[in-house]
Amino acid sequence: DHSMMDMDGDMMEGHMSHDEVVSLNDSTGENELKIPSMLERDDEEGVVYTVRAQKGKTEIFDGIETTTYGYNGSFLGPMLRLEKGETVKIRTINELDENTTFHWHGLDVPADADGGPHDVIKPGEEKIIEFEVSQEAATLWFHPHPEGITAEQVYNGLAGLLYIEDDNSKSLGLPSDYGKNDIPLIFQDKLFDDEKQLNFIAAMNDDGTIGDTLLVNGTLNPKLTVDKEKVRLRLLNGSNARNFTFKLNTGDSFVQIATDGGFLNEPVVLKEVTLAPSERAEIIVDFSQMNSENDLALVNEDGSILLPFEVSNQSGAVSTIPGEMNDFSLTEEEMELPVTKKVELFGMMDQVTINGKKFDSERIDFTQQQGVTEVWEIYNKPDEMGGMIHPFHIHGTQFKIISRNGEAPPENERGWKDSISIEPDERVKIAVKFNNKGVYMFHCHILEHEDNGMMGQVKVE
Ligand code: C2O
Ligand code: CU
Ligand code: CU
Repeated sequence: DHSMMDMDGDMMEGHMSHDEVVSLNDSTGENELKIPSMLERDDEEGVVYTVRAQKGKTEIFDGIETTTYGYNGSFLGPMLRLEKGETVKIRTINELDENTTFHWHGLDVPADADGGPHDVIKPGEEKIIEFEVSQEAATLWFHPHPEGITAEQVYNGLAGLLYIEDDNSKSLGLPSDYGKNDIPLIFQDKLFDDEKQLNFIAAMNDDGTIGDTLLVNGTLNPKLTVDKEKVRLRLLNGSNARNFTFKLNTGDSFVQIATDGGFLNEPVVLKEVTLAPSERAEIIVDFSQMNSENDLALVNEDGSILLPFEVSNQSGAVSTIPGEMNDFSLTEEEMELPVTKKVELFGMMDQVTINGKKFDSERIDFTQQQGVTEVWEIYNKPDEMGGMIHPFHIHGTQFKIISRNGEAPPENERGWKDSISIEPDERVKIAVKFNNKGVYMFHCHILEHEDNGMMGQVKVE
């Protein structure tokens, strides 16, 4: 009985963070990083893109086939690039032998296109969704969201990137040559069994499945070869539960240019950036003065090597990072609004709750008027053992952080967000507005917590 096994294993760990318990292997850099293909539009009349959830076999380890899930392929998915202002149709097809949904994380869409747990697509069935891209340029992503089995499906490989471009993103002069100096990076940790299979049931932890093996874009032991130029890295923490703190091994700084939902107003110089599951950051690393002698790598908090870089002797494009990129603002008015929604995150393992309750697809937890900004206060209530970080996410919107424990958020969080990491005993105020009507989820993005009921529903009227 696997649940007993989990109990034993996890009780020993108590409330220590998983990251301390299972460390991640260093990337040896022997494999060139895979770049997800860009999804082509269909020429078929009326349907613009087709996304199929599939099961397949992937050679992650040399000469070994691992059973995995993917979109339009056996593992992970292609990158969909949409333009602000266009009307998009996506035909979603479930070719798995189990239910799934297609959720567009961070996308401001009508609830019937959002792909939450209510939007089940049965095996062999399909659904066409249509929406107008109404938000600004950002790095978003998509993944399944079926009730109770999201963690397993994402773990098995269902995740893809969704880029939005707009006039601003195209005119800033930022590195934007896809796969060359504009690099998608999906970081995930996995636990492979002796047969090099992803045995979710055996690996599963109710506080979030943590692996010892890093995959970046599905690549084991990845390295990235770059020319001597500025390179934009679009970081996505696509893991079920692990937090990553990205740094350069030299201790040098880099600049962050975008948050989950768009560009920062100005580039922010940083030495490290931490992303909880589902958070994104776009950063720029300058290789223009480097050469093959430089041993540069992206490393994790503990120094473990996530992605070594190899600098070629080619000089690349000359790009600049503009000093002004966006006009994001948090108005006085928004800052003075009273708190009208309180969300209390609590618990661990299968005892997790929001406001003392577990998810019920029949229950509406909050209602909010379309187009009206409300202040939500998210509190991570500790227990006697301290508690743990919960990454909090809301569907169908990008929100603004007003404060963390009463203080202004750090500079690199002064931009659009759809997910935020909340420490035990931390109280975060956010300004939330929905542009569309319907029922949207809010939940902890440790996927096992979500599956264990750490999720609620807001009805926008
Ligand atoms: Cu990334 Cu409810 O999702
Ligand atoms: Cu989402
Ligand atoms: Cu949680």
